[in-house]
Amino acid sequence: MENTEIITKLEPIPHTALPYPFEDYFLSSLTSADFPRLVELYNADLAYILLSPPYPYTLEDAKWFHDNRAHNRFPDYPGTQEAWVIRSESHGGILVGICGSHPVPEKEHHFRLGYFLAPEFRGKGIMPAVVAEVLKKFPGAIFDAEAEVGNMSSQKVLEKCGFQKVENGGFEETWPASKGGGVRQLLKFVRQC
Ligand SMILES: CC(C)(COP(=O)(O)OP(=O)(O)OC[C@H]1O[C@@H](n2cnc3c(N)ncnc32)[C@H](O)[C@@H]1OP(=O)(O)O)[C@@H](O)C(=O)NCCC(=O)NCCS
Repeated sequence: MENTEIITKLEPIPHTALPYPFEDYFLSSLTSADFPRLVELYNADLAYILLSPPYPYTLEDAKWFHDNRAHNRFPDYPGTQEAWVIRSESHGGILVGICGSHPVPEKEHHFRLGYFLAPEFRGKGIMPAVVAEVLKKFPGAIFDAEAEVGNMSSQKVLEKCGFQKVENGGFEETWPASKGGGVRQLLKFVRQC
């Protein structure tokens, strides 16, 4: 049986509405209808900002993410999944961004936070509200996060959501040439939920 079929048989995760003043936005799950939107977004400026997604990003990459990662469930935290798709009601449920709660291999109750918004939805305060909702679903868990030294808006999201910068946690990462290249400076953040 294909993973896609298994996923459609999973009990769906109910939508989570964001609180005022973000009631237009809600958290839901990835569907195959989102694949072209992921291709559009990951091949635009996110290609240079985010290290982990492949570039160029294809419909097959989106299907792989859907089938292998996005719908992972964490039984210790009922009603959770790996990829939280942020949608806008007034934009017909379009994918506005993703917040990922990625399990850290071989570390129980330990996750890595990742997130992005489509360019037209940035700078409105949406992501701090999203991260706060996602973290509430993982009581007791530890979340790590990383942000480039120059990515002030990402660092502000983490600070607003109660993350602490890890002292002496800075490190370097070599970016692939196809994604803009260079050796970039990153900071580590952590939060106990
Ligand atoms: C990072 C991101 C998720 C932030 O989400 P958002 O909903 O736009 O965040 P906010 O609207 O709360 O803005 C973040 C804060 O950064 C501030 N900010 C933005 N650019 C800044 C800059 N160059 N210098 C200082 N502060 C800046 C904003 O003013 C805001 O602070 P304020 O609320 O105190 O005014 C979003 O910009 C994004 O998707 N960026 C591209 C992908 C990305 O960088 N992902 C994270 C990788 S680590």
